[in-house]
Amino acid sequence: MKNSDLVTIANEYGSPVYVYDAEKIESQYKRLTNAFKDVKHLKINYAVKALSNISILKLFKKLGSGIDTVSIQEVQLGLAAGFSPEQIIYTPNGVSLDEIESAATLGVKINIDNLSILEQFGTKHPNTPVCIRINPHVMAGGNANISVGHIDSKFGISIHQIPHLLRIVENTKMNINGIHMHTGSDILDIDVFLYASEILFDTAKHFKNLEFIDFGSGFKVPYKTGDIETNIEELGKKLSAKFNTFCKSYGKDLTLAFEPGKFLVSESGHFLTKVNAVKQTTSTVFAQVDSGFNHLIRPMFYGSHHEIDNISNPKGRERFYSVVGYICETDTFGNNRRINEINEGDILRFKNAGAYCFSMASNYNSRFRPAEILWYNNKAHLIRKQETFDDIINNQVEVDLDNK
Ligand SMILES: Cc1ncc(COP(=O)(O)O)c(C=O)c1O
Repeated sequence: MKNSDLVTIANEYGSPVYVYDAEKIESQYKRLTNAFKDVKHLKINYAVKALSNISILKLFKKLGSGIDTVSIQEVQLGLAAGFSPEQIIYTPNGVSLDEIESAATLGVKINIDNLSILEQFGTKHPNTPVCIRINPHVMAGGNANISVGHIDSKFGISIHQIPHLLRIVENTKMNINGIHMHTGSDILDIDVFLYASEILFDTAKHFKNLEFIDFGSGFKVPYKTGDIETNIEELGKKLSAKFNTFCKSYGKDLTLAFEPGKFLVSESGHFLTKVNAVKQTTSTVFAQVDSGFNHLIRPMFYGSHHEIDNISNPKGRERFYSVVGYICETDTFGNNRRINEINEGDILRFKNAGAYCFSMASNYNSRFRPAEILWYNNKAHLIRKQETFDDIINNQVEVDLDNK
């Protein structure tokens, strides 16, 4: 996909618009499976929350992936995309027992991260296999909001609670089919996985009927030229060796599972916006685009970096700009960025816009969420229409305030 294709898409479909390159998704998927080729049974479960458009899910299905879901709605979306229940793992946190039971009724793999819920579920459904999410208490992740393995985290069952966990399993006679962890996002250091794997293997030894061990995700992708990323190839070599050794001692070839979101879709995404105004103040030149944190919240939420370039004037003289949105709070996408000269009407492209971008978009300021395009087989395919005013008003109910 060339920059000129992106400009054509912005002109044809309007802005703002999200564009995803299917080829990049495919190459990331293959890179990951190739890194773990030494493992007999590997399962990649794409984390739906990262980018949940049904056409993206269908693309993953075509690649042979399963999916990781965190809500009953994501489960339903996965089923609608054609995944069979066995290809879906459901890893909720803080949801009701009712919701977990609904997911179990649909036949998907259940992952529980709470002792109280585990006991209730096991007592009522001892024959439904359950995976357990362990919190190995390994501190990892790029930002406090995406580090979920630490001692104060709400996620997972603490390794310090294993004796309690074992009592529940024994009393309920439930069948534990998997052990899982997910310690955070943007993890640079593969030692985090290697160290945590020892904890998972130790935990796994307590259960005789395991089918898989799920190492979650959190792989870091590059956000700018020269940025560090998780060394997937080295991780593949080292973790596969450890896993194979463990399987030997366990006496069974288990499945090694991962559930990446960002690694698979982040770099495929391009968010295109139009410059509404260039505003020169005494200290700064602002480029004000037709979007805001209603469409792309990561810079404001996590301090995430998205490279921004001017794809409609790629040869213009470079100058410094602060790129901001049109929202009624401060919504700075990038401060003092060196960008080719920007004029009103230019198209600015935000990179790494595949993961946690559209899926976190909202209607704040009563704005429409943008269209989404999949670039597939050298053609642009509309995979979500831009919202209209009907989408804003449809579910609102007007009260007759004059009727006493
Ligand atoms: C349980 C679980 N699995 C997988 C993921 C995907 O993580 P990433 O996008 O860093 O690959 C997340 C992200 O929050 C998660 O919470």
